[in-house]
Amino acid sequence: MLIRHRRRVDPASSEITPRVAYEKRRSLLGAALAAAAGSTAIPSALAAAPAASPGAGTRLATRPGAHSTIERPTSREHVTGYNNFYEFGTEKDDPARYAHSLRIRPWTIRVDGEVARPRVFDVDDLLRLAPLEERVYRMRCVEGWSMVIPWVGYPLAELIRRVQPTGNARFVEFETLADPAQMPGLSSPVLEWPYVEGLRLDEAMHALTLLAVGLYGETLPRQNGAPVRVVVPWKYGFKSAKSIVRIRFVERQPTTSWNRAAPREYGFYSNVNPQVSHPRWSQAAERRIGEDGLLQRKRPTLMFNGYGEQVASLYAGMDLRQSF
Ligand code: MTE
Repeated sequence: MLIRHRRRVDPASSEITPRVAYEKRRSLLGAALAAAAGSTAIPSALAAAPAASPGAGTRLATRPGAHSTIERPTSREHVTGYNNFYEFGTEKDDPARYAHSLRIRPWTIRVDGEVARPRVFDVDDLLRLAPLEERVYRMRCVEGWSMVIPWVGYPLAELIRRVQPTGNARFVEFETLADPAQMPGLSSPVLEWPYVEGLRLDEAMHALTLLAVGLYGETLPRQNGAPVRVVVPWKYGFKSAKSIVRIRFVERQPTTSWNRAAPREYGFYSNVNPQVSHPRWSQAAERRIGEDGLLQRKRPTLMFNGYGEQVASLYAGMDLRQSF
């Protein structure tokens, strides 16, 4: 990743929404929605996405999902204001400033390659494909900072099962939108466009891997990858591709954008690993956005970003220094 000295937009710790307050707000909203619909359903049972085509920032009906951390979510302001989305520029505040030009409807996602049932999904059908869950995940960027984000989505495996990968499918490639008319950052050769990321099929099928359509209980803001992205919480943030237009099942390991740009620095796996330094900096510790007052110490980075219990078995027998 490009590391520059940037104007700091880091928040004060007082700006963080305490999880209890946030959850209370969510359950009040859920109750209000249920009451408005004349339903006796409890908020956690609300699972249907809205019938109309929602824009960015539309409230979604979700249920609490598995695997959420109890850590305090990073404030919405920082989740949506401190971003990497190079199609809109390389500064952290560029996506929030420039992504308004991204048109998120109509939007389709082609799912093809080594599958028995290739399909083109309209994004509004994807929103209704499976019950939407809220999953609060720790996210660790390769640059050395982290956030806690309340995502909305469902396991990517839900979609994968519907297209029936063939026996030849070993990897999944994610291709994201590249339209210079909507994305000013494409005029820069910082990466080869379109942005491409990839996972091994078993990583993509893992219960932690989300197809995300929202955060903080609402459809995704454009700067966070509207209308649909993946979220892979045990890997560095760049594996979580935004604004996806195609998901392709392939036999060979895909060449990904960051791996192509700097193969010594960004491997295919990119599992969060405090023992393997980036060639230009250590990965042993991280700065939690929102906690960085003058005296705030960095947090130690955890193997697999703390999700080792769930994912370490995927890499049994592999040398993670070689396959970084
Ligand atoms: N997806 C696309 N299409 N373009 C990008 O530049 N940046 C990646 C990833 N997905 C990126 C992308 C990086 S480097 C990170 S850290 C995360 O998105 C940031 O996601 P966030 O801004 O929602 O926190």
